[in-house]
Amino acid sequence: MSIKLGILGATGKVGIELLKLLEKCTDLPLEIPPQLFGTSRSAGRKIKFKNQELIVEESSGQNFAGLDLLISCANGEVSEKLIPLALKQGVKLVIDTDSYYRMEANVPLITSGVNDEDINWHQGIIAGPNCSTAQLIIPLKVLHEAFGLKRVVVSTYQSVSGAGKAAMDSLFEELREITDKQSANESLKPLKKDQFAFNVIPKISKFMENGYTKEEWKVIAETRKMLHAPELAITCTAVRVPVLVGHSESINVELLSPASLEQVITALKAHENLEVWAEKETYPTPIEVAGTEPVHIGRIRKDESTNNAFDMWVVADNLLIGAALNALRIAISAYKKNKI
Ligand SMILES: NC(=O)c1ccc[n+]([C@@H]2O[C@H](COP(=O)([O-])OP(=O)(O)OC[C@H]3O[C@@H](n4cnc5c(N)ncnc54)[C@H](OP(=O)(O)O)[C@@H]3O)[C@@H](O)[C@H]2O)c1
Repeated sequence: MSIKLGILGATGKVGIELLKLLEKCTDLPLEIPPQLFGTSRSAGRKIKFKNQELIVEESSGQNFAGLDLLISCANGEVSEKLIPLALKQGVKLVIDTDSYYRMEANVPLITSGVNDEDINWHQGIIAGPNCSTAQLIIPLKVLHEAFGLKRVVVSTYQSVSGAGKAAMDSLFEELREITDKQSANESLKPLKKDQFAFNVIPKISKFMENGYTKEEWKVIAETRKMLHAPELAITCTAVRVPVLVGHSESINVELLSPASLEQVITALKAHENLEVWAEKETYPTPIEVAGTEPVHIGRIRKDESTNNAFDMWVVADNLLIGAALNALRIAISAYKKNKI
């Protein structure tokens, strides 16, 4: 069976990465090139795909008929309004990279390589996780299965591309404005609240009543859902840093069963989507790993402050494993399971 694919939000950061991945993908038999959807702003725009030029259509909500699979990389408002319309028009599966449906009980939330078996019970929509959760969940799943997780403490260092192309443009505008200034002292004055350039912002998304931000709460709730561990003790502080692409995370895990450092490293090395930097004094950084597919994990060491706990540093391309690559892997997995 071949597949008719549509991409909603094809002109955004995630959409463009998805198209690049699809150009070299041989595991998903596309009947025709993907149909691309955006807003009226990008309607008519031409995007190169293999040796053709595809034309972006405005997503009226009525032009999804005939598609088997729709991958949505737009935003929550689009997910809310257009995904139900796509399902009504007979689209067999929608994979949504947005958070809108992630915590719905009848929507599987999937990181490929972690819980692909949950694809089996989809009812038309599958959600992909937040970009920070996607790279966190892979090592956590390995350690949960091998030793059991007692408690997890995560701090994220998230790139601006996590907030889409507009945020990346803002960072560049700020940098231009700052470098136009006459002296270093002048550049120290903030241009605005939550300036990205030369800053570190411990607030991503809105604050909640309990003091967490929504971003932090997504990491917590999504991890519990994908690990099927609703009581898991996990906390998170999510921070925006002036990096273009690639999220980094400092993770501290306390394990239930005793494990040596070697056993932890061996278990992590066995996962096909993890690249372990085990050589002494090596460590991944976002600028080095942007554009690569694995989740990179280094600085793995025993936490000397307590028993049976480990620290690690995890870096990955948020546009790939955090969204586009995961969505594509979900599609391939669903196709192989005959679930499209
Ligand atoms: N960036 C990440 O690292 C990341 C990671 C995980 C999940 N996600 C999720 O992926 C989605 C896309 O993120 P992004 O970073 O690629 O955002 P982005 O760069 O801002 O792109 C948004 C895309 O959505 C399109 N769009 C907006 N309103 C639309 C509408 N009414 N109808 C059709 N298309 C519409 C835009 O089209 P125009 O070009 O025409 O405006 C653009 O193609 C979001 O839901 C985000 O939460 C992102």
